[in-house]
Amino acid sequence: MNLIFLGPPGAGKGTQAVRVCEQLGIPQISTGDILRRAIKNETPTGLAAKSYIDKGQLVPDSVVIDIVRERLVQDDCKNGYLLDGFPRTVAQAEALEGFAKIDAVVDIDVSDEKLVARLSGRRVCLSCGGTYHVSQLNGSMTCAKCGNELIQRADDKAETVLSRLTVYHAQTEPLIDFYTQRGLLKEIDGAQPMDECYAAIMAVLGK
Ligand code: AP5
Ligand code: MG
Repeated sequence: MNLIFLGPPGAGKGTQAVRVCEQLGIPQISTGDILRRAIKNETPTGLAAKSYIDKGQLVPDSVVIDIVRERLVQDDCKNGYLLDGFPRTVAQAEALEGFAKIDAVVDIDVSDEKLVARLSGRRVCLSCGGTYHVSQLNGSMTCAKCGNELIQRADDKAETVLSRLTVYHAQTEPLIDFYTQRGLLKEIDGAQPMDECYAAIMAVLGK
């Protein structure tokens, strides 16, 4: 199955993608994770992307489209994949139609108020991608999966979160109509507890 997870920053795309991908045996392709890795490794793509990400703006379409086009031809995508955070503009979605056949788009819906609380408390592991909320950590700053240090993402600062939400509403939300028109959209309530979100996603996917 070739899937897209759509939804605002903090909706739980990454959290749910890990579980769904494990269950379905397909790779999670997060453009945000790929760009953060490129920044950490100081590659040309990373250096170009950093100023946009730090401001909460989108990285130019041409950069992310090339990243995804190259990623989808790799062997592990032969039996399906889950795109987490791509596409994020109508131009990206139109480009994707030129090189991929998508089976379903899961839109994880959460109100802006809840998103701000989630993102300000998020802690992540840059080594394995583990994602937590401070409310789960009891003061620990160590990743339960790999033992490395947890950090706060630079773009989870309050003012950057607000600009990411504005960008989401202006540039990414139109994709809900785009994929509804194509009969691919499956909406789930992302404000539910994590296990219930997971069950709702598997149900809309018929799994
Ligand atoms: P990206 O990394 O994709 O960030 P995002 O879309 O802003 O989404 P997040 O990763 O912040 O949230 P999420 O939905 O994955 O939530 P999570 O599961 O972590 O992109 C970062 C930047 O890269 C962009 O701003 C842009 O600059 C650039 N970029 C990336 N892709 C691009 C593209 N295609 N085009 C252009 N630029 C691009 O959960 C959040 C928190 O909530 C966690 O603490 C988690 O524990 C908690 N949580 C999750 N689910 C629940 C629940 N059900 N109940 C309670 N808490 C929950
Ligand atoms: Mg994410």
